[in-house]
Amino acid sequence: MADQEEPEDGQAGTGPIVLVSHRGPVQFGREDGERTVERGGGGLVTALSGLAGQLSEALWVCAALTDEDTAVADEHDGGAFDVDDDGLALRMVRVDPEAHEQFYGVIANPLLWFVQHELWSRSRNPDITRVEHDAFEQGYAAVNRDFANVVAEEVAARGGDATVLVHDYHFYLLPEMLRAACPEVFIHHFVHVPWPQADSWRILPPSMRDAVFTGLLGNDVIGFHTQRFARNFLLGCEELLGMPVDLEEGTVSVDGRTVRARAYPISIDTEEFEARASSPEVEEHREALSSIRREHLILRVDRTDPSKNIVRGFKAFGILLHDHPELCERVNFLALLQPSRQDVEEYADYTERIRRVVADVNLEHGSSDWQPIDLRLEENLDQAVAAYTLFDVLMVNAIFDGMNLVAKEAILVNQNDGVLALSENTGAYEQLGEASVTLFPYDLQQQADALYEALTMPTEERRRRREAAAALVREYDVGRWLGNQFDDIRRWRAERST
Ligand code: G6P
Repeated sequence: MADQEEPEDGQAGTGPIVLVSHRGPVQFGREDGERTVERGGGGLVTALSGLAGQLSEALWVCAALTDEDTAVADEHDGGAFDVDDDGLALRMVRVDPEAHEQFYGVIANPLLWFVQHELWSRSRNPDITRVEHDAFEQGYAAVNRDFANVVAEEVAARGGDATVLVHDYHFYLLPEMLRAACPEVFIHHFVHVPWPQADSWRILPPSMRDAVFTGLLGNDVIGFHTQRFARNFLLGCEELLGMPVDLEEGTVSVDGRTVRARAYPISIDTEEFEARASSPEVEEHREALSSIRREHLILRVDRTDPSKNIVRGFKAFGILLHDHPELCERVNFLALLQPSRQDVEEYADYTERIRRVVADVNLEHGSSDWQPIDLRLEENLDQAVAAYTLFDVLMVNAIFDGMNLVAKEAILVNQNDGVLALSENTGAYEQLGEASVTLFPYDLQQQADALYEALTMPTEERRRRREAAAALVREYDVGRWLGNQFDDIRRWRAERST
């Protein structure tokens, strides 16, 4: 390995770091003529933002997603600029709007997201037409190429021997492109979404699925949330590409290189999160929410994403009220939902379905002074954290979810011996399943029964489970997630250079 200046913190041995994700840590906007700065949404940014302090001297490359992002990028001639005092620099890449629409609105969401969360109902969709084939080439591959060029430029500026951390399903083709341009680079890709079995990938034609797998094999390491996803990836390499894989070692051999698939369960910055939970802003929301709560509070906090299974969750709640009319007027279901990807048709339709099912349940079971479901479609993290402290039952019934950080955040700061009702298909279930009440995402009756079990569980048992889950979240926090990855990166980089 070439001699190089290492930062003084824990990055020694990794070389300079370049991080790549589609959504960046901040998003610029404009209000009343003034520039505003907001944190980006979703699990990826939630986890990575907590790390800004640990990623000093790093460069984060992301897309310019708003007009104001583009204005900021232009002010810096498309180059990097500092975002905070921790030395983290940001480079916002301007992407051709048409290519971006094909990349984001046709391929990444819905096609890849829907494949990976098992959301297609195969007898009806998807129909893969010329539109998707063109969007894959002219949108998805083109945007991957643009980002690969930017990253290659930044790697070259750092002497070629950098560590590149690529994030998520937006950039499956980038690693192979980058490897061709910078053979010395160490590339670590973290996939924040589930990795399904090989047969699920057969929804995509070979021209797309092979490109996804071979693109990813440009990496040195591919990180997943669970062992199951890592194993599915390796089996996919074997079944779809005929590659030699070693399931014990978790490796694939590619042209004499070893590519590793590993599980690193993502988490949250527990200290930062607990501090937020006791902030005055959260306290204000707590008071407001406390005044509306009745005897029992069921909560869900999600993006309005079909993978979150929100419609079935409300139907199950309707069944609960039907089966246990004594709960009427005594329970509230507070649903704090952040509108997500509304420019993608499937997402806009899903939000509409959510509104309709809420109206149905409220009409059937509500009374003049009690609405069973309190639906709030807005992005308000302080309000969500306040609700986390108050719930009796948190419903997470996702069809599939890479991890689900809401479950970890909520159980950590809950002050009411709240119970997690958690889908068996979330990554979080691998860690928190034993401390939860299990939900089977398609079984409405089971979900209704499980909600009842959670609501009526003896206090001692609720407390025991909450404490066990919170202890696990504290033990396996985001620092450990990052630390384990960096330990492996250092070790494997060193091995590679001997
Ligand atoms: C999930 C994905 C992220 C994504 C986030 C928000 O957490 O894993 O990559 O950024 O959702 O979705 P959006 O499309 O708004 O970036």
